[in-house]
Amino acid sequence: MRNILIIGIGAGNPDHMTIEAIEALNRADILFIPDKGEEKAALRALREAICARFIRKPDYRTVPVEIPRRAEAGSDYHGVVDDWHERIAARYRALFESELQEGQTGALLVWGDPALYDSTLRIMERVAASGLSLDWQVYPGISSVQVLAARHRVPLNTIGAPILITTGRRLSEGFPADQDSVVVMLDGEQTFGKIDPEGLDIWWGAYLGTPDEILRAGPLTELSAEITEVRAQARARHGWIMDTYLLRRRSA
Ligand SMILES: C[S@@+](CC[C@H](N)C(=O)[O-])C[C@H]1O[C@@H](n2cnc3c(N)ncnc32)[C@H](O)[C@@H]1O
Repeated sequence: MRNILIIGIGAGNPDHMTIEAIEALNRADILFIPDKGEEKAALRALREAICARFIRKPDYRTVPVEIPRRAEAGSDYHGVVDDWHERIAARYRALFESELQEGQTGALLVWGDPALYDSTLRIMERVAASGLSLDWQVYPGISSVQVLAARHRVPLNTIGAPILITTGRRLSEGFPADQDSVVVMLDGEQTFGKIDPEGLDIWWGAYLGTPDEILRAGPLTELSAEITEVRAQARARHGWIMDTYLLRRRSA
């Protein structure tokens, strides 16, 4: 049987690696480093910096994993994602078989926390279901949402109330009527600028945890245009951006 360690590495700051994650990193025979999207050079650099800083043996081996691109979603979002995950699972299976001997351990370095808007855990189920004898363990990481809250010194929920963590795509249907606190991830369309801003506050963060971090907070009516502009400039400067925000209904 092959064993895979799914290690949350934090969302941009190597100091956010947990001791448990560092120890897991040091148990791996091979480190699989996923490469995806336009931001890949920066994210790959962070993963490599984490390996260089925390792995104690000098001769550790990394293997890049070229993640296939997802087709445009169109109307069949779930169908497209399903097909994409199948292709990623096939890629992982081939790599696990060719790079790991029976009894060896591989590690997957996953951005932020593996349980939050990341498909690695679902893909591992697919790889195992395809018949490869496999076991895996998961090591939590500090997610971008936690860094957002910490940097802004804001709790994610109001007293006794729930929070909704969702995507820009879902927010485009409007701020949910039954929520007061909504965290938005995966928003390439600046959806905060397309919903009714009245009565909403925003806590926005880009490149959280990195030296390039940008933060803005205040009434959405006042900040929407500024964030859109700051975001566009930063994206042009770096060639990529990752941002997350909390929207909250102002209490009367
Ligand atoms: C595929 S999800 C991965 C989330 C990750 N598992 C986590 O726990 O943060 C990618 C989204 O996470 C958010 N994100 C990840 N890293 C970020 C960072 N350093 N700063 C701001 N947002 C980030 C963005 O909303 C981005 O679109």
